[in-house]
Amino acid sequence: MPGELQVERLAARRWLVQLPTRRATIRLAARLAPALRAGDLLALSGDLGAGKTFFTRALCRRLGVSESIPVTSPTFALVQPYEGRLPIVHVDLYRLGDADEVFQLGLRQAREDALLVIEWPRTFLDVVGGGEVSIAFSLHADGRQVQIDLGEAQPDVVSRFGAVLAASVSSARAKKAPL
Ligand SMILES: Nc1ncnc2c1ncn2[C@@H]1O[C@H](COP(=O)(O)OP(=O)(O)OP(=O)(O)O)[C@@H](O)[C@H]1O
Ligand SMILES: [Mg+2]
Repeated sequence: MPGELQVERLAARRWLVQLPTRRATIRLAARLAPALRAGDLLALSGDLGAGKTFFTRALCRRLGVSESIPVTSPTFALVQPYEGRLPIVHVDLYRLGDADEVFQLGLRQAREDALLVIEWPRTFLDVVGGGEVSIAFSLHADGRQVQIDLGEAQPDVVSRFGAVLAASVSSARAKKAPL
């Protein structure tokens, strides 16, 4: 069914989303995209191959980045900007070892007028200004799942993301509820 997504609320600001298929990941990106604004920070964690870049690509497409532009892991470029309905800066900090190197990338400034998406953020979130939406990917059964944690996010971010996620929970519940 188009648009269906399994979302569960684990705590006031923590959500679990099942991504059994790539299509579900694309759907999650589609749900979150309208809630995104310049200045937001998405911190994508999880093992190699857990789906961070796949999700970022889906998000970029939904935000209007042309199919002709490849969206891949910027493991060597470190920082890759894209132009969609808002500027997007995609970063992979996997190879960086200390906060000074991260500081030199100028991400705090870049974030002022762009959506910042960081893979492998580890301990470097303060360097880029914090206030992140944490999206933690893990392998689950044959697919993936993510925990979305709004615990560090600013109130306006919590309300934008919270609204989208809460709407996803209630529609799933409504479907299951007896008549
Ligand atoms: N439900 C799913 N959601 C996302 N990707 C999936 C899913 N199921 C399978 N995959 C596959 O898993 C792989 C995820 O690779 P991806 O490059 O996104 O990982 P990554 O987390 O960015 O890894 P790295 O840490 O190396 O950058 C892709 O080959 C994708 O096709
Ligand atoms: Mg990646």
